[in-house]
Amino acid sequence: MFNTIKILVTGASGQLGQCIQKVEMNYEKFDFYFADSKELNITKKGEIHDLFSNKQFDFVINCAAYTNVEQAEKNPKKAFEVNSEGVKNIAEVCKETNTTLIHISTDYVFDGQKKSPYTEEDIPNPINVYGKSKLMGEIFVQEILDEYFLIRTSWLYSEFGHNFFKSILKKSSVEEKLTVTISETGTPTNANDLAKFILDLIGMNTLDYGVFHYSNLGEATWFDFAKEILKHSGKLDTIKLEKTDNYAIFADRPKYSVLSKEKTVNIFKNSILDWSESFKKIKKG
Ligand SMILES: NC(=O)c1ccc[n+]([C@@H]2O[C@H](COP(=O)([O-])OP(=O)(O)OC[C@H]3O[C@@H](n4cnc5c(N)ncnc54)[C@H](OP(=O)(O)O)[C@@H]3O)[C@@H](O)[C@H]2O)c1
Repeated sequence: MFNTIKILVTGASGQLGQCIQKVEMNYEKFDFYFADSKELNITKKGEIHDLFSNKQFDFVINCAAYTNVEQAEKNPKKAFEVNSEGVKNIAEVCKETNTTLIHISTDYVFDGQKKSPYTEEDIPNPINVYGKSKLMGEIFVQEILDEYFLIRTSWLYSEFGHNFFKSILKKSSVEEKLTVTISETGTPTNANDLAKFILDLIGMNTLDYGVFHYSNLGEATWFDFAKEILKHSGKLDTIKLEKTDNYAIFADRPKYSVLSKEKTVNIFKNSILDWSESFKKIKKG
């Protein structure tokens, strides 16, 4: 017999939450409780307390976030409410209940001025509201807790939710020409790979807490990613794909936000796929 590990997943109906639900059956000693935003609003501390007074958890995987980068510029209050105050609430309840928090953050905490992959030791300097609100959430986690894994990731996509992969597929079914930016470089990350990494991490029973970077390997522009998506869906010959370095967006974005995975791989000895290799595994949606 083995001890069951009890895990709460917040924001469970979002992209990463759904990826975790997809792979959960591979982790038989884990007992999951999936809470979507209707059941558990992380901005309401009372709701978190209520849930924790009925159930005990060993881990919380916080997938709840306000992720609309453009809207965050127009509604900073909402972004900070969820990404900063909500995370503070979760961290405080984890502290009170001795629960380990796995919190997800973003490459957008960096300003993009660097020319080589960002390490966990690089100083964040976000240039948009979303990044600022996520950084404040990170600071709360680090101030409140000792036992946490803060995992920064980048450019998530999957068959679930809203993401670049799905929107390129959708646009390519109705438009003849797509114009995609070359002015940002990062790493597309298969959210299914991240979900598996998080659950493997729990299974390792490690005490190596702290900040870690996890994305797929390699780097690409959004144009490169769009090209791969069209190639994969057999549309590269029929759609005209154009580069631009002047795509109209409201929020500033880091020009370069590749994350170094050296620390993560050194400590957890996990293997990570190159982004284009991992992309081949995804369903066409
Ligand atoms: N997507 C990316 O490209 C990307 C890149 C880097 C890092 N990240 C980080 O990765 C994590 C997962 O992202 P994702 O792509 O899975 O995001 P997502 O699809 O937008 O999912 C976020 C989930 O959080 C929920 N949520 C929002 N406000 C909430 C609240 N107050 N209380 C509880 N739940 C709430 C949303 O529910 P409703 O829909 O019902 O509001 C949604 O289900 C986030 O921390 C994000 O910042 C994402």
